[in-house]
Amino acid sequence: MKKTFTEALLAWYDANKRDLPWRDQNNPYYTWISEIMLQQTRVETVRPYFLRFISELPDIDALAVCPEEKLLKLWEGLGYYSRARNLQKAAQTLTAAGNSRLPDKYEELIKLPGIGDYTAGAIASIAYGKPCVAVDGNVLRVWARLSGYRKNIAAQEAKKEAKKAMQERLPEKRPGDYNQALMELGALVCLPKNQARCGECPVRTLCKACEEDVVPQLPVKQPPKERKIEKRTVFVIRDGDLTAVRKRPDKGLLAGLYELPNESGWYTKKQTEEYIRSLGLLPLQITPLPEAEHIFSHIEWKMRGCLVRVAARERTDTGSLQFIHRGQRAEGFAIPSAFQAYEKYIKEELS
Ligand code: ADE
Repeated sequence: MKKTFTEALLAWYDANKRDLPWRDQNNPYYTWISEIMLQQTRVETVRPYFLRFISELPDIDALAVCPEEKLLKLWEGLGYYSRARNLQKAAQTLTAAGNSRLPDKYEELIKLPGIGDYTAGAIASIAYGKPCVAVDGNVLRVWARLSGYRKNIAAQEAKKEAKKAMQERLPEKRPGDYNQALMELGALVCLPKNQARCGECPVRTLCKACEEDVVPQLPVKQPPKERKIEKRTVFVIRDGDLTAVRKRPDKGLLAGLYELPNESGWYTKKQTEEYIRSLGLLPLQITPLPEAEHIFSHIEWKMRGCLVRVAARERTDTGSLQFIHRGQRAEGFAIPSAFQAYEKYIKEELS
């Protein structure tokens, strides 16, 4: 059984694997960066980010000393920014101990910030050929169908059983390819719900879900927790060609990134006027902007925008606000995609 499953899987992988810039490069740093980027983001989105990242920061030493603003700029648009900070923390931990290379043992890898069970297994097997499994969401789905698992896939127990079953089938010679083949099967063939392409699957004859005709029903997921909905007003404050931005606090949601000033609740024109004055600015004209929404993992922002033209500032003490020129936005200011709907008003010429 082990032989049949694993051999069929690897033969399929050899013939069908995608050409990805971090694949088959024999570079543990590339494996690490790509696995972290891929944790919450799709392969096609990751590809250009990965290439830019390794060209700007080609190794652990470069990552360790990269200025924070530059690092966040390289990550801008990928979301879950703590991933970038943890990458740097891990790089700094390694260089401080005199290492410019990632450790090759699962037990050492998992001690580093941002590296959990999955990523440690992926790096150890892909970059160093260690006999570790790496079970991510795609692999869980593949396993649930193969084994006909009908309990909640989000439970720890499911992960434990999946790891055990996948470990039993792990080949001695190509553990990294085996893990990548399972991920690839989940990404290209064993697709969620009714998108599965069972006709193309190299292991369909071994699949319980296929045999029992329940592929679209598996895996079983409990409905996700409802997200908190928050109303916010986003202010595009323009002083001529300049737009106000501010840095977010160092902790919490979107920590340390720049943002357009925004406040909880939907502000009326009068509230907006008072708010702008409270910032030490003189509002000249207030124009409502379209609504927009952004979904984070636990919270959803329902945003209303507001374009506020202010008189040339006499005072420079506008608290935490900085006024930037449109060109500057592209240079050093990482603004999260939550504000994307309002970005064009930073660049727009106002008559
Ligand atoms: N998803 C996460 N890691 C991956 C990898 N190495 N190959 C394909 N998909 C992935």
